[in-house]
Amino acid sequence: MSWRRAAAGAAALAVALAALAQESSIDLAAGVGKDKVVAYCSSCHSLDYIQMNSPFPDRKLWEAEVNKMIKVFGAPIPPGEIGAMVDYLTKHYGR
Ligand code: HEC
Repeated sequence: MSWRRAAAGAAALAVALAALAQESSIDLAAGVGKDKVVAYCSSCHSLDYIQMNSPFPDRKLWEAEVNKMIKVFGAPIPPGEIGAMVDYLTKHYGR
């Protein structure tokens, strides 16, 4: 392994650790449906994906986003929970 590679590896690790440290501090707005969003949306990626997109999506877009997580990425979200989660996302992170 060259020194360049070793340095790149160390830098990548530092970035990953910083991301981990940040993740624990993410707290979504309090509201109806928050528990579901936290439970179903944080298993694959950090909840800051939601904050990053705020406040631009309207209800239709959040609905499409949640459905994309289910259909494209295989998120195990029961169909009966989608409505409450989209309500929450639209109210707190949409327009
Ligand atoms: C099964 C794994 C999984 C679950 C569960 C999941 N996501 Fe995702 N999500 C992904 C992947 C994979 C990406 C895109 C790749 C990346 O950038 O990391 C992504 C990306 C996103 C993005 C960025 C925009 C985009 O479309 O790429 C948002 C916003 C998002 N997810 C919101 C949610 C919300 C809200 C939930 C809960 C309803 C959720 N995710 C649950 C896998 C998941």
